[in-house]
Amino acid sequence: MSTQAPTARPFRLAVNTGGGDAPGLNAVIRSVVLSALNLGWEVFGIQRGYEGLMTDGGVVRLDRNSVEGITHEGGTILGTTNRGNPFAWPRSNGPSEAVDRSREVLDAFRRHGLDALIAIGGDGSLYIASELSERGLPVVGVPKTIDNDLAATQVTFGFHTAVDTATEAIDKLHSTARSHERIMVVEVMGRHTGWIALYAGISGSADAILIPEIPFRAEAVAQAIRLKYERGPRYAVVVVAEGAAPAGKSASLVDEGAPGRSPRYGGIGEKVAKELAELTGFESRSMVLGHLQRGGEPTAYDRLLALRFGTAAVDMVAQRQFGCMVALQPPQYREGERRPLTFVPEVRAVPLKEAIAERKTVPRDSDIVLTARRLGISFGDEEAAEGAAVPAKS
Ligand code: F6P
Repeated sequence: MSTQAPTARPFRLAVNTGGGDAPGLNAVIRSVVLSALNLGWEVFGIQRGYEGLMTDGGVVRLDRNSVEGITHEGGTILGTTNRGNPFAWPRSNGPSEAVDRSREVLDAFRRHGLDALIAIGGDGSLYIASELSERGLPVVGVPKTIDNDLAATQVTFGFHTAVDTATEAIDKLHSTARSHERIMVVEVMGRHTGWIALYAGISGSADAILIPEIPFRAEAVAQAIRLKYERGPRYAVVVVAEGAAPAGKSASLVDEGAPGRSPRYGGIGEKVAKELAELTGFESRSMVLGHLQRGGEPTAYDRLLALRFGTAAVDMVAQRQFGCMVALQPPQYREGERRPLTFVPEVRAVPLKEAIAERKTVPRDSDIVLTARRLGISFGDEEAAEGAAVPAKS
């Protein structure tokens, strides 16, 4: 009989990406893999959310070479799906039915000999992670969404890249709008919140920004545009978040959704363009920026945030701090300090339950909204856009 103590097998960490993709996912994966390998762990990627756990070859070993040169690449090397909720898995024979496969997911996780999971995802994926955590899965979440709508973190990676993409598009629309003396309406992403529309709209000098947090009246937007045309520049650019809605009406959907499948927003840009043309008599066109905002290389800001999140998530696993999510938060005051030593936001752990409890919406009274109003941007609400208060020509 051997007298040697059995050598402990290495810790086996899994990572997956779920929901819609966002620029920076690959940077998180690289940071997770390299940080974990440094601790002597083995790392495995689950492909297409949780689906890979239940399909042959769906769990792949990740080493240094698998994550070489991917920090700057958009998308996710692991693939993703927004139809992979283990608690509401779409049945193959009917789109309107879903089954609970969470037990299978948990069993498969153990069968693969995995010790912990880092789940990278938005509100839906983090909700799933939280539910699986309640059922015993050792999981740490990493927040991802271009919509930037998670309250627990100051910002999610992917958001700044999406804002840059949208701003560049708005910049380009100015010249064509001006040439044709048209109203150009651009619909950007943001189902429940208007962060992309707000940031890109202000940075891109839009004339109006319509967001889900501020129900709008088309007539108020039309009036702001009429005043601009009267003042001189005979064109306008309007930025609309896909979830924006006229006062008293609900948001525009292209698909109502079904069990295991979220509703799809869309169409509001075209509706606004048509209505503004009718109200003002000026020609209008609309465009949907769509998934362009989710693609492409992450900005340096998003890369760094994603890399920080990946390393912090591995540290949380190492400390067995499961059922939590990494979040970027304001620096904390330490005892005896009159102010934090630095103003650099810190990555900290927040319980998953807390992280998914609240949505981060645009505060109507924030200085960002106020700045927009001062610049003369209309939100289509009752309050007059200050800069637009130019007397009409007689
Ligand atoms: O990540 C959220 C989001 O970008 C929303 O703004 C948008 O409604 C949604 O994804 C679209 O996702 P998909 O077309 O991939 O289902």
